Order: sequence, then structure tokens, then C-alpha cells
Amino acid sequence: MSVYRKKVAVLISGRGSNMISLINATRTADFPAEIVVVGSNRPDAAGLSYARNEGIACFALDHKQYGKDREAFERDLDAKLEENGVELVVLAGFMRLLTPWFVNRWHNRLINIHPALLPAFPGLDTHERAIETGVKVHGATVHFVTAEMDVGPIIAQGIVQVEDTDDANRLGTRVLEIEHQIYPQALRLIASGNYRIHGMRVLATDK
Ligand code: GRF
Repeated sequence: MSVYRKKVAVLISGRGSNMISLINATRTADFPAEIVVVGSNRPDAAGLSYARNEGIACFALDHKQYGKDREAFERDLDAKLEENGVELVVLAGFMRLLTPWFVNRWHNRLINIHPALLPAFPGLDTHERAIETGVKVHGATVHFVTAEMDVGPIIAQGIVQVEDTDDANRLGTRVLEIEHQIYPQALRLIASGNYRIHGMRVLATDK
């Protein structure tokens, strides 16, 4: 029996290596999601050219054209998602803060990957801060997006050991490899619908 594939948008701002891992995963036969569109707030994002070459519909909404009017940008973004029949929005290095209006509109249908083990190190420069703080384990988190940045029910986490010889770059490279593993796994779970949210916990349910 063929599986229902939830229609997913991936939003990016840059190179899109997580997007590539999601494209590859969604091409496997039984994956419960398909990427129907890739969007970016930066027309020159390298990931957009990649997605276009893969035959995926793409759009760019240059946030600079909107000045300070975040909601106007988000209304146009929302219209693009609706036009494409999107059911689930996946942020993959999308470097725009989203307003409560957008987050509430996509409540429980909007997920993000963050390069740290939340709730540790929300925000930027996570690898530098992990090294400075002296933690021995670090990693990445996939979570539902809520109005507060980098806070929301946690779907998946992956860990790496921090080595004595690490700098932010070396550590970040290993975290990125982990991101490429956990994001497809998390998307599989959420797209399948076999989970429930209990407070901040995302719990797998029986199929
Ligand atoms: C990743 O480290 C992700 O965790 C963060 O932004 C980076 C995006 O990288 N949110 P890429 O564009 O997916 O390569």
C-alpha cells in the first residue's frame, strides 16, 4: 500500500545542507513526506539553485524588500505556502525570526533544527559557546517552533563528544553530520503523525 505523503515546505537562507539531507530522505519509497516547495528569504541562497536543479518548485521572498514590516513579509510567505498546499513547514537554516502571528498560524506544523542540545545554548554561535563553557557533550535538536526563540517541544536530539582538540569549526562539522541524520528521522516521525505532544515532550505513539 502506498503511504500518504505529507506536503512539506523547506525554508532556507543559505547553503541548505540540511535541506539536501531531507530531499534525499524524502525520496525513499516509504517516506511519509514529500518536499513540494523550497523557499528562501535570500534570492542568492545556494540551496535554492540545488533544489531547482532537483526539479523542486522554489520561491524567494527577499526580506530586504519589506523593510521593517515583518508581518507583510510573513503574509506573503504564508500565501506561498498555502498556494503550494503545504501541510508542514520545516526550517533548515532559515535566518529570520518569525512573529507570533506566523508561529501561531503554523502551530504544531512548524519545526526547526538548532545546532545545540536545547535548552543549552539557544541563539547564535553555539559551537563557540559550547567550547568556552567546557561542556563535554554537544549536539543538535529538532523541535517544534513556538513564539519564543529556540524553545518548543523537542522531537529529536543527536549528540557528539567535545574533544580536547576541538575548535568551533571542527566541532560544528561533526554536529552538522549529526543534524543530517536526525532531521530526516524527526521529519519521518512528525509526518507520519505517530506522536503526541505532552507539555514539552514529544512522545511516539503506536502506529
Ligand atoms: C545548521 O547548523 C542549522 O542547525 C542551523 O543553521 C545551519 C544551516 O545549515 N539552524 P545548512 O544551510 O542546512 O547547511
